Amino acid sequence: MQVLPPGIHLIPGYLERSQQQEILHEIREIIRIAPLFRPTMPRTGRPLSVRMSSCGELGWVSDKQGGYRYQHNHPVTALAWPDMPQSLINIWQELSSCPCLPQSCLINFYDQIAKMGLHQDKDEEYFDAPIISLSLGDTCLFRVGSKSRGGRTTSFKLQSGDALILAGASRLAFHGVDRIYPDTSTLLKNGGRINLTLRRVTKP
Ligand code: SIN
Ligand code: MN
Repeated sequence: MQVLPPGIHLIPGYLERSQQQEILHEIREIIRIAPLFRPTMPRTGRPLSVRMSSCGELGWVSDKQGGYRYQHNHPVTALAWPDMPQSLINIWQELSSCPCLPQSCLINFYDQIAKMGLHQDKDEEYFDAPIISLSLGDTCLFRVGSKSRGGRTTSFKLQSGDALILAGASRLAFHGVDRIYPDTSTLLKNGGRINLTLRRVTKP
């Protein structure tokens, strides 16, 4: 068994296929109202390879001028983000050990060649609540390190239905997605991977 850094909890197969399908249906409805957009890097304006959207009170966005931040509105439509489905709130309540409610669900869509560089989730004001991540669709190679850049990292695969918790000593761990393994799941009709991360942003 692979030893993961303290505070990282992997729950393989947390979501059954039928739950994955239900959540996927809800995410499709959200994306109809809040379409996927491609964020750009602060300063350089370089586009990320991942496309994103959000639901809940706040959504994470990034662009050249404003940098990384949470905001109440979709950056393209300017509409408020759609509500977070109760199914995701229930998952947060089951896995987070936090009496507070989640305020944001970041929806990341990876096509076959998308990846995400090592980064910390640190744009929140509150780090006592964990980050809860759910994977849908194609398998990816996930990498996690420590709170400092350049430290030792551990890699493992995340499959459709897996839940991953970044909590405690690993709440601010560097993490990223090195690659997607195409055609490893039949959940998404046209392939690719969706990752949902549930977050508490402000102090409760
Ligand atoms: C993220 O760090 O926002 C996404 C992680 C993942 O896709 O598993
Ligand atoms: Mn992250």
